[in-house]
Amino acid sequence: MQTFSNNIPEHVAIIMDGNGRWAKEQGLPRSAGHKKGVETLRQVVTTSGEIGVKYLTLFAFSSENWSRPAEEVGFLMGLLKTFMKRDLGKLRDKNVRVRIIGGRENLQLDILKLLLEAEESTAQNTGLNLVIAFNYGARDEIARATKRIAADVKSGLLDVNDINECCVSSYLDTRSIPDPELIIRSSGEQRLSNFLLWQAAYSEFVFVDELWPDFTKDVYLCAIDKFKSRERRFGGVVPQKVAVTS
Ligand code: IPE
Ligand code: IPE
Ligand code: MG
Repeated sequence: MQTFSNNIPEHVAIIMDGNGRWAKEQGLPRSAGHKKGVETLRQVVTTSGEIGVKYLTLFAFSSENWSRPAEEVGFLMGLLKTFMKRDLGKLRDKNVRVRIIGGRENLQLDILKLLLEAEESTAQNTGLNLVIAFNYGARDEIARATKRIAADVKSGLLDVNDINECCVSSYLDTRSIPDPELIIRSSGEQRLSNFLLWQAAYSEFVFVDELWPDFTKDVYLCAIDKFKSRERRFGGVVPQKVAVTS
């Protein structure tokens, strides 16, 4: 049995992948996989709160996912709206703070309003930070940050000599959110797909074979256990135990 009293990652980020393949396996349309995936998402939010994860980032829709058939994109937009309408109250009551990362330009007005409402109405909450990556692409995030840095230098708000790693981080969508210690991807794929490229510099990766709708609590806890057994060095060396001689 797993124990989770210590060494729980403060920030877990998840690439929720495999909804379409799950649906295909069941002989169902891809939309059925996305619907089932929302149930997994709810369970992961609950488990994260239970085990003491402070930040949970979920990759829900990438800036590249717009290239999918219009019908699927429309379904995913509808699913986000339904989730926000149905679950926001519960999340608020559970002291969850919701944040959204990703580009805000060109989003439907009703979606934009729901995202803002989710952030504003939970801004005072102090429990789990649920970060939803929606219309998110890391290269787009870095490009948008660079644009704002350039504008601030031009207007005199920022001195070019003050641009360092810390400064760049503060211009990203994830400002004030610590980097993820653990990134999990479901469905057996082993790539980042433009997720948190800057923030993942020293993340540990756990790839699981289960498709997202089959990502159970046990699979999640097992991924956390794997993280716990990793040795993180950050470019340094592991301190050697000094033998005591008498
Ligand atoms: C993840 O499942 C959900 C989104 C990317 C929105 P996919 O839809 O990518 O499922 P597969 O990878 O095609 O199985
Ligand atoms: C990554 O999954 C995006 C999300 C999980 C939202 P994709 O299914 O879009 O990634 P690729 O296309 O397999 O790289
Ligand atoms: Mg996929």
